[in-house]
Amino acid sequence: MLSVNPERFLSDLNTLRSFGAAGVGKGVVRPAYSDADIAAREWLAGRMREAGLDVHVDPVGSVFGLAEGTSLLMGSHSDSQPESGWLDGALGVIAALEVARASAEAGGPPVSVVSFEDEEGRFGVTTGSAVWSGTLSLDKADGLTDRDGVTFAEARARMPGRSEDFVDPARFSGFLEMHIEQGPVLDREGEAIGVVDAIVGIRDMKITMVGEQNHAGTTPMQGRRDAFQALSRFNSMLDERFANVVTPHTVWTIGHVALHPNASSIVPGKVTFSMQWRDGDADRLGRMETIIRETAEEVAQTRGFELSYGPMLGLDPVDMDKRLRGALDHAAEAEVPGRWRTMPSGALHDATNVSRLMPVAMLFVPSIGGISHAFGEDTAEADLVTGLKVLAGAVGQLG
Ligand code: GLV
Ligand code: MN
Ligand code: MN
Repeated sequence: MLSVNPERFLSDLNTLRSFGAAGVGKGVVRPAYSDADIAAREWLAGRMREAGLDVHVDPVGSVFGLAEGTSLLMGSHSDSQPESGWLDGALGVIAALEVARASAEAGGPPVSVVSFEDEEGRFGVTTGSAVWSGTLSLDKADGLTDRDGVTFAEARARMPGRSEDFVDPARFSGFLEMHIEQGPVLDREGEAIGVVDAIVGIRDMKITMVGEQNHAGTTPMQGRRDAFQALSRFNSMLDERFANVVTPHTVWTIGHVALHPNASSIVPGKVTFSMQWRDGDADRLGRMETIIRETAEEVAQTRGFELSYGPMLGLDPVDMDKRLRGALDHAAEAEVPGRWRTMPSGALHDATNVSRLMPVAMLFVPSIGGISHAFGEDTAEADLVTGLKVLAGAVGQLG
């Protein structure tokens, strides 16, 4: 049984929060490759070294703290959404660091730690672990741009101390990622732990519709080619057409809407937006894509819009490894008997990519009010510590 130190763990978690602390409450703004993200990664590398781990920053800025020989890999990401809470990703990284320290103090089993870069998709979808796992080539990733037109290649060059080499995945026997649930289930049911059985799949692509920019006072309603109206029509048609295909667990989101020129006296001539959809069934994701394309084409044709698509990004749904899951089940039952459940993850995680390289499993703790990707994200300290103990319990069994 590994003996973790909750005070040391909470103190490190609070220190990580201080990089990019923003907004109300425990808000954080620490997008990939921002000054705050880079400073946090340098601090983290220092903590890894103090824990006796060998630091390796890979070509995209993912920070590994490597134990000697074959080890279990644990961690998550420390970059954030443009507006975020203090725990998304950070919790999994700091919990891994604490378990690695406890393990080193106990003389094993060896635990390595990772903070993947750009999980939150400033450029792609879980970019750092996608490149490491071979889901996305470095070449293709380098050409991806953020909303301001900065390329991934330019952004990753900002991260100091990068090696030219990726870490060999063969040195790890498996991957464990602890995370906040980011949904309402555990909090509502008064449960302390969720052991994940599967992570949903995702598809994400940019859509652009170009109509005609014109004067908002003199252009008759009849015959306008208004890009906002096109998006609005597309959105409502999509909701109706999805109705026969989706389940109550399917989700879809239009985001990053850039309306040009976005002024009150100009009929907007161009709109670009992200279309994202998620489901646990890869076939359903495919059927939704067909509907999305057909609907966009229909909207474009009725009013003579020019339609184009950006690259399709995505990850397929994945199941968690039974043996690693079993260790988490046992540890959860020992720590909080009857107060844990098996559940799917509707959020994406680095574990999806890592599952291409080795067995993976995930552990959730409750999110208060189910809030995440918002400044209000939080989890009770007691639940954070319970999650840490369950994670350490599982590692103790696996070693
Ligand atoms: C990851 O944060 C996601 O969008 O699910
Ligand atoms: Mn996350
Ligand atoms: Mn997130």
